[in-house]
Amino acid sequence: MMSNQTSALGTMVDPELVEGLTQRPLQIPSKYFYDQRGSALFDRICDLPEYYLTRTGDALLDHRSEEIARLTRARQLVELGAGSARKTRHLIVSLLAQDGGLHYTPLDISRYALKQAEASLTEEFPELHIMGIECDYTVGLEPLDPDPGCLAVFLGSTIGNFPHPSGVALLRRLRDRLAPGDWFLMGVDLVKPVSVLEAAYNDQSGVTAEFNKNILNAVNREAGGDFDPTGFQHLAFFNELDSQIEMYLVARAPTRVRLADLDTELHLEGGERIRTEISRKFTPESTKRLLAEAGFDLRHWFESDNRYFALALARVPED
Ligand code: AVI
Repeated sequence: MMSNQTSALGTMVDPELVEGLTQRPLQIPSKYFYDQRGSALFDRICDLPEYYLTRTGDALLDHRSEEIARLTRARQLVELGAGSARKTRHLIVSLLAQDGGLHYTPLDISRYALKQAEASLTEEFPELHIMGIECDYTVGLEPLDPDPGCLAVFLGSTIGNFPHPSGVALLRRLRDRLAPGDWFLMGVDLVKPVSVLEAAYNDQSGVTAEFNKNILNAVNREAGGDFDPTGFQHLAFFNELDSQIEMYLVARAPTRVRLADLDTELHLEGGERIRTEISRKFTPESTKRLLAEAGFDLRHWFESDNRYFALALARVPED
């Protein structure tokens, strides 16, 4: 297995991508979904009738924001992967309603998203202090240095896109930046009937299939590849044993792909799969275990009425 690779032109290809494309089964890291087109497709996914996650998670947060503000009394709100901060507005309103002012610290890899969020939030909430941090929170959280008593949030069930060990490592890195008594709110998508889960990742209008295939365009740019997305089929199903949706691209026929920046060629058999994503589905017990492994105590559990989605409110132990 290669650890990284520099092309003849001296371009460094992402070692994570190199590793994924030099192992069997082949894998592409999910972060490659979110180029400009992929982000726009993901926004469309969030509005699909089958994709209950966004609407259910947002409604639950709106419904529970006041209670969360009352329980935490936080004066600083830290958000991992804040994006446009669309889903956080209600929580900001509820925290601002408590006395003492509020600092909002969104973290995102996109400077553009941070600037947009800052501009619109400043207009809407002139009393809010905003200090965004441009960083890849999946790699390191060193720039984060919050005040004691803060509330960190990781919404949308993005934690489900990390295999258990990297999810624990990510939460642990967050915990290490927090102080005893600080709060952490995490959104989790729950185990539910397989038909509901599988419909959410196989929508009738084919947007998720487009989103999945678009990842190959991003790989082509990163590795000088010539993947033809039309040569692949979208596949998504629930793996009950591992409690996760798995998403793949399946080669329609034997396929050769040139990866110029890696000076290599991939040979796929007809029907061979490339894994592009996992999306883990949780129970109260598995969430509690994940949080405990990362050093958090689960204190409060809020579920949507249909029991599709939950918010776990945890705390860094005092000693
Ligand atoms: C971002 N993440 C929580 C989404 C999910 O459901 O796991 C990504 C996604 N993949 C396909 N549809 C949406």
